[in-house]
Amino acid sequence: MQAFADQARQEGKRIAVVPTMGYLHEGHLSLIAEARRRADIVVVTIFVNPTQFGPTEDFARYPRDFERDRQRAERAGADALFHPEAEEMYPAGHSTVVDAGPVGGVLEGTIRPTHFRGVTTVVAKLFNITKPHCAIFGQKDAQQAFLIRRMARDLNFGVEIVVAPIVREADGLALSSRNVYLSADERTRATALVRALELAAERVRAGERSAETLRTIMTARLRADAPTAVDYIAFIDPETFGEIGTLRPPAVLIALAVRFGTTRLIDNMRIEIADTHG
Ligand code: PAF
Repeated sequence: MQAFADQARQEGKRIAVVPTMGYLHEGHLSLIAEARRRADIVVVTIFVNPTQFGPTEDFARYPRDFERDRQRAERAGADALFHPEAEEMYPAGHSTVVDAGPVGGVLEGTIRPTHFRGVTTVVAKLFNITKPHCAIFGQKDAQQAFLIRRMARDLNFGVEIVVAPIVREADGLALSSRNVYLSADERTRATALVRALELAAERVRAGERSAETLRTIMTARLRADAPTAVDYIAFIDPETFGEIGTLRPPAVLIALAVRFGTTRLIDNMRIEIADTHG
């Protein structure tokens, strides 16, 4: 892979990488299409990265179908697939990691304490292996996208980080490889996440600025669809990823994590806030 990337670079070609854990859905395909628009060579990586899963998480049952992924990625415009074995990525004795910093410890990091260290470490490795000029990630994993952009800046990777919009089903459910875990009934109720976000957006547009009030409204909307648990509803400054109590221009990112049965879903929405002072 490194030799292939070196060759492409020597020929003056621009490389875009789309890092994935496979089981490609329309959301991934939109990232590949975005990469296609931005580069001469599109590399898709498919690697279910063990180091970003906690000991009780779904690593073993995470859906995998390489042959289907290969066909889908090729059809969407990939020039190369990088599909390593875990032993190649993490040879015996590997010990160096990339610490995601304080933002790696909030929200998803509270519930999954080693997750973002696993993500930043594997993405750093994938950047060094695929040598891209730009890399495309999805906004669905907002905290991940923030941390990777921060890592690329802090560690001078020289890789442009592009974050592409969330792709949704017709009823609004954000696409995720984990949606396959939902029972038919849970799948119907799972639209509660996007409905709660839409409701908050409506209230913000009508002038509501209190995160607490919006959280109460969103919790009530979620409860209507009887989730197993609401892990968090967070109001975030998109620039710093810090939580905020009072919404201010130019925008807020509302992120939430909700469980239906054993399936944990995340979603988010950026809402622009009008500057009423002028
Ligand atoms: O978003 C994902 O699928 C993964 O976290 C990533 C970025 C491919 C790293 O394993």
